[in-house]
Amino acid sequence: AAGGTADRLLPLLTAVPDHPVPGVVFRDITPLLGDPGALREAVGALAGLLPAGTDLVAGVEARGFVLGAAVAVAAGAGFVPVRKSGRLPREVLVESYELEYGSAAVEVHADAVPAGSRVVVLDDVLATGGTASAACRLVERAGGEVAAVVVLAEIGGLGGRDALAGRRVEALLTL
Ligand code: PRP
Repeated sequence: AAGGTADRLLPLLTAVPDHPVPGVVFRDITPLLGDPGALREAVGALAGLLPAGTDLVAGVEARGFVLGAAVAVAAGAGFVPVRKSGRLPREVLVESYELEYGSAAVEVHADAVPAGSRVVVLDDVLATGGTASAACRLVERAGGEVAAVVVLAEIGGLGGRDALAGRRVEALLTL
């Protein structure tokens, strides 16, 4: 991250031990979201990490919605929601993945990505990479090109980069 940005933003990412299950350290971004200057700085910096020509930001439920929609507006892109199972109302594509704590699935509307669109998958945290990898597969099955995976914070040592091998990965902060 640019000089100063990490110093300002990292203290606003609170580590919560043993949430949601023992052994997992949850990273809570709500202090950052609640700080007007920090929120503006984070959104602006994330928008600056988008590859040129990005058409759509695909944000992953739930915190990828908050950041992703703001980044999409800042970058002049559209927004596509990647949701947990059973939430989207129309025809969906589904991808399952393993999380640090159990397994889950994400979905996207089958018609959400016009053919050939350049899509950035955006989330708050990259940990094992399971969620982002599943989101990338959804984007590609829907007909888009994954231009990059962009996250607010990457947790090192959990294999996220390996899970996304061959993809462009941009992290504003490293934990
Ligand atoms: C968190 C985070 C990412 C994902 C990263 O979401 O917001 O989406 O985990 O982990 P991974 O790289 O190991 O896949 P969480 O699963 O806690 O869901 P939530 O947004 O519903 O709280």
